[in-house]
Amino acid sequence: MPTNKIANQILIIFGASGDLTYRKLIPAIFDLYKQNSLPEKFSVLGVSRTPFTDDSFREKMKEGILKFSGLKPENEDELNKFCNILHYLPINTAESKDYSQLTLRLDEIDKNENTQGNYIFYLSTPPSLYGVIPKYLAAEGLNIENNCFRRIIIEKPFGTDLKSAIELNSILKEDYKEEQIYRIDHYLGKETVQNLLVTRFANGIYEPLWNRNYIHHVEITAAESIGIENRGGYYDHSGALRDMVQNHLMQLLALVAMEPPMSIDATSIRNEKLKVFQALRPMKDDDLFKNVVRGQYLPSNTNGNYYKGYREEKDVAKDSRTETYVALKLFIDNWRWADVPFYIRTGKRLPTRVSEIVIHFRPAPQNLFPGQEIHKNNDNQLILRIQPDEGVSFQTKMKIPGSGYRVKNVNMDFHYSQLHNVYLPDAYERLLLDCMMGDPTLYIDSGALEATWKFVQPLLDFWKNNTEAPLYGYPAGSWGPENADRLIEGENKSFRYPCKNLSNDENYCEL
Ligand code: BG6
Repeated sequence: MPTNKIANQILIIFGASGDLTYRKLIPAIFDLYKQNSLPEKFSVLGVSRTPFTDDSFREKMKEGILKFSGLKPENEDELNKFCNILHYLPINTAESKDYSQLTLRLDEIDKNENTQGNYIFYLSTPPSLYGVIPKYLAAEGLNIENNCFRRIIIEKPFGTDLKSAIELNSILKEDYKEEQIYRIDHYLGKETVQNLLVTRFANGIYEPLWNRNYIHHVEITAAESIGIENRGGYYDHSGALRDMVQNHLMQLLALVAMEPPMSIDATSIRNEKLKVFQALRPMKDDDLFKNVVRGQYLPSNTNGNYYKGYREEKDVAKDSRTETYVALKLFIDNWRWADVPFYIRTGKRLPTRVSEIVIHFRPAPQNLFPGQEIHKNNDNQLILRIQPDEGVSFQTKMKIPGSGYRVKNVNMDFHYSQLHNVYLPDAYERLLLDCMMGDPTLYIDSGALEATWKFVQPLLDFWKNNTEAPLYGYPAGSWGPENADRLIEGENKSFRYPCKNLSNDENYCEL
């Protein structure tokens, strides 16, 4: 990677005592360090209320690196050397008066390390501070780019609905230019998500078929086997629609549905994605009933283990109607996709952790081989597996050897694991590096952000105003409410029930 092109800089992490810093951000920075991808002069300043010193912060981060980095340290010396770039400042980030300490500390590190006043501020704090911290930074002049750069990275959730997202955008824009604001969606940092663009636009064979004439429908799934863990306080006010659909799944949808960009640069790609969001058919009252299934997981005994129901989880209301599962049918009203249904589904406590996109092609126009077995989803499918067992699989038909013409489905697979000595970087590693280089392509711009909230808003309103709207229970460890399959149009069609391994189908499933 082009180290010499990256300007010297300091990364300031707000919320440095939190889980994201420990599990993801510092391990990702360590992995960049291992690959010699960090700028020549680079420091990290962790900021939060917990009273760490530089040393105790480094000790804690060492643990995180040993547990979570992709490229483990070879020895203690290497780890210690890396940790010398980490610093810590305990302040109350909700108090404007504490920010002068930040300015002083930054001046000091900047002078010692010759980082030329280039700062990235990473907000990994409770969302209530997303409008506050940037204001206090601006009050200290830390937003001003005077022969240097000043960028802020904002974690999700960016707003809790359309109104709050617009408000937050306008608060930020009072002090920062759009080019300074990096709204993160970690799905876009996943290698396999970026590969979607390559699969579609580097191959000549897919694009001619990639439209309503040849595609019957598209499925996008992000299934998780974990529950809400210890995030009940956040999740019970969020739910699957806000937590996964408005951001991650909408981004996947845009990459599947967009037109070819003029070039692989931020403006061209963002423009094409925005057009997809603008063409989403708004959900009307009827669709809110017919085209949406929401669910909540119930207690269950699966494989000899007891799993709590959602309402038994810590910090969740006993009568909560928050959805832990949602499936939607939606349409993109443009020339390419008119009337092609897109099915989007996500849930917690499903049987396995799988994210994938399945393109279902229309059948051959005539059935020349009437003896072939009829079973569900008996079509040509292109499966783009995002995680785990990352890869691509194409389901096609072949003749079973022997007399007559018996036809069988087979898979043609590519698994990333087949590439020897290829390291799949973590999403945060790629995204942090892009921000350091000033490349916003894989970040969300304000237009896309507001357009995706606009699409989900009618559903949020509908659930809020109709507390009796159906919410189906599903046993923890099952594939969600059964009636989600009824969303799928066509005979013998259902959601694909994927397994951990890409090429397994539902009959031979390792969960
Ligand atoms: C986060 C959600 O954005 O994405 C979590 O808040 C979810 O609820 C996570 O578990 C899923 O990410 P990944 O990379 O594990 O698919």
